[in-house]
Parts: sequence; structure tokens; C-alpha cells
Amino acid sequence: MIFIANFKMMLTTPKAIALIKANLEGYKGLAQKHNIVICSSATSLTSLQELLAQTKVCLGAQNCSTALSGALTGEISAADLAACGVSYCLVGHSERRALFHETGEELIKKCIALNQTTIQPIFCIGETLNDYQEGKTLPALENQLYSVLELFKNFAYPQELLVAYEPVWAIGTGLVPKANELSKTFEQIENFIKSKNSNQQYKLLYGGSVSSKTVESIAQVKPLDGFLIGGASLDFQEFKKIVDYFH
Ligand code: PGA
Repeated sequence: MIFIANFKMMLTTPKAIALIKANLEGYKGLAQKHNIVICSSATSLTSLQELLAQTKVCLGAQNCSTALSGALTGEISAADLAACGVSYCLVGHSERRALFHETGEELIKKCIALNQTTIQPIFCIGETLNDYQEGKTLPALENQLYSVLELFKNFAYPQELLVAYEPVWAIGTGLVPKANELSKTFEQIENFIKSKNSNQQYKLLYGGSVSSKTVESIAQVKPLDGFLIGGASLDFQEFKKIVDYFH
């Protein structure tokens, strides 16, 4: 299973270093059995890379530029992230879509930029509360997935598409979909992927209020390849409880 910690903008670099340093052995232990990815702020990546260099714990970024280089003040390129030891990058997190107005077209450009490096995109999709209440979850997800599936047909690497399904209404709210609802949505996502490209390899992750309390019900959903964990990843013991559920 793959467990992705999304620190968002919740930790300054000294705090992120302190969290990893204090629990380094613990993270290493988790990474013996599972794929553990830490998505920290861009400014802390280099320090964390040094700390994690001799471990199996991977580094992730939370965002990247649509361009590989250029006069783009304030942007961070995929090439630069790769040079900092990053192996994964979130693309299209709902906070970026909603608060920074990232469009589907920009997200595709980010995937293309990442494809010029060895960084694997973690493509985030999720319906809003409105979509959910109006029974429009599936069209919303299909709309977000369509272009990336078309794009991946042309990619030799990575062959595998990582999709993180995060209902927007579940992020940071303590609410999670019921297991039967989530199973249905996962099945619909799988069917859509297969209908667009039957050869596409993929992994399905869930995100949104994952905690030691909610993990049990989410874990019933199959196929579930991993989790994208926000708030609960800021407390190592809580993060460990979620991962340990799968031992
Ligand atoms: P949460 O965040 O676990 O705090 O709900 C998940 C995410 O935004 O990736």
C-alpha cells in the first residue's frame, strides 16, 4: 500500500525537520512494509531529503510549475523538484483547483512537465458537496479524469497512473463516504479508466479525513491501493496507527 502524507502549509521547515527527526526510526519501520511518501513544503524538501537519504521513505511535492524552466518568478519547476530528490508530486489537489483556480488544461501541462523527469504525478480528483448532493459525482470525476487518461496513452513512463480520489466535502471535515458509497465510486472510476484505456495501469488512493478512527470503514473498500492523508499526517503516532492497520 502507498501512504502519502500531505503536510500542506501546516509546518514550517524547522517543524517539518523536527517531526521527521523525532520519528525517523518509526518512518523507516513503516517504509519496510509500505510505500511511504512525505509531501512537505517546497522549502523543506532539501533538508528532508538529507534526513531521508538512506531510507526507503520517499519525498513528494505538493505542486509544480507547468513549465520546466523560464522567466516565471515564484514558480518551482518539476526539474528543480527532481534535483531535490522528489519522487512524487500532487497534481490537482482540490485546494489548488478551488483556491488557485487551476484548470484541467494546466494540470495536464503539469503532468507533461513531470513526465520530463522521473517524478510520478499523483492526480487528485473529487466532487464538491454540490456535485455530491445533486448526484453528479460521476460526471464530475469523469470530467477531471478524461484528459489525464488521454495523456497517459502517450506516456512510456510512468505507465502507472496514481489517482487519489478525495471528495472535496470530506477534506478536513471529519466526514468520510460510507463504505458502500465509496465502493460504488471506486468501481465507477475503475470502469471509466478501463473504458478509456483498457491497458492503463493504475492505482486508486483515497483521501479526505483519513484518521485512526475512519480507517476501518474505508479499509473495507476494494481495490484500495493507498491513502492521501492531510491532518492526521502531522502527528506521527496517528499516521502510524493508520499505516499499522494494514499490517
Ligand atoms: P485531510 O486532508 O486528511 O486533512 O482531510 C486530505 C487532503 O487534503 O489531501
